[in-house]
Amino acid sequence: MLTSTHIPVLVKETIEALAAQPGGRYIDCTVGCGGHAAAILEQSSPGGQLLGIDADPKAIEVARARLEAYSGSVLLVNDNFANLQAICLKYDFLPVHGILFDLGLSSLQLNGSGRGFSFQHDAPLDMRLSPNQEVTAADIINTSSEAELAQLIRKYGEEGCSRQIARHIVRERPIRTTLQLAQTIERAIGSRRGIIHPATRTFQALRIAVNQELEHLEVALNQSINLLGFEGRLVVISYHSLEDRIVKQFMHREAKDCICPPRVPTCVCGHKASLKLITKKVVTPSLTEVELNPRSRSAKLRAAKRIISQDEQYMTVEELGGSTEAKANGWRRPTVLKKLRSVFLAA
Ligand SMILES: C[S@@+](CC[C@H](N)C(=O)[O-])C[C@H]1O[C@@H](n2cnc3c(N)ncnc32)[C@H](O)[C@@H]1O
Repeated sequence: MLTSTHIPVLVKETIEALAAQPGGRYIDCTVGCGGHAAAILEQSSPGGQLLGIDADPKAIEVARARLEAYSGSVLLVNDNFANLQAICLKYDFLPVHGILFDLGLSSLQLNGSGRGFSFQHDAPLDMRLSPNQEVTAADIINTSSEAELAQLIRKYGEEGCSRQIARHIVRERPIRTTLQLAQTIERAIGSRRGIIHPATRTFQALRIAVNQELEHLEVALNQSINLLGFEGRLVVISYHSLEDRIVKQFMHREAKDCICPPRVPTCVCGHKASLKLITKKVVTPSLTEVELNPRSRSAKLRAAKRIISQDEQYMTVEELGGSTEAKANGWRRPTVLKKLRSVFLAA
């Protein structure tokens, strides 16, 4: 059986931001090794329910073992969170009190999973979260043009030396393993560059490209709003500036009534705020947490809650494309809750 040494990040802050409460219903879009999920279930017990999603089937296996004590209250789904709305409709799991995204990778994936996420372990250049995905990091490295590689490494890795790296990659390919790639990068830009390894940014870029991480995040954030009940919480922990920018821009945009460009004299967009920011400033781990868990050092937590303007109604399940069950004031009627519990017990 797979087990994990992954230490969840900002747990207390996450539970506070989610305002987790007994009987609440939550979605953990990145259930990983189940650390945050266990904390949410503990806080929402008795009666709490959790839908845990992960693209990685191995993570689901680990989470299932970790959350065994709560098996009657947990539904685990191996899927991409880009399908969040469809998953919630399929399992009749909406609206919810809170949605969590703890982005990036778990220690399970980074520590010698054999899938090439880290240059600290020699492994094939794969980097797919799910074996169902077609394109691997090796495919990108060995088939892209030099210009495409340089652009990808700059865009997703924010790497200033992307051109030199791309030139060396093209010269030295085929490149099949993490060690080969890390050594190629060292030959391109040297082995010492401040505190981060010279391959860090290129590995980040490849992982983002292979898993279309930024696109999936945008899609899922947009879907999350209609899944939240009144005052339901959206909490996102990100680990690099590209993710955090998307989260920040999304939350700030959705917290505004008008998103017209500043030079437009009167509003023409008709946009209505659907969120209220809870964290005006980003929340980061304490020094003690970083000391205990160095992987938490880049974590940034942002949170917002669902609001509804006077003229706005919840989208009905039918409008979302789902079943014809009814809702009352944005929350499920008891009959539907009963049905929901039977889904949990059957899962
Ligand atoms: C940082 S880990 C989460 C750890 C978890 N919070 C815990 O306490 O154990 C991030 C997880 O998100 C998953 N993930 C990343 N992108 C995903 C996506 N688009 N859809 C579903 N899962 C994704 C990864 O497979 C990984 O297991």
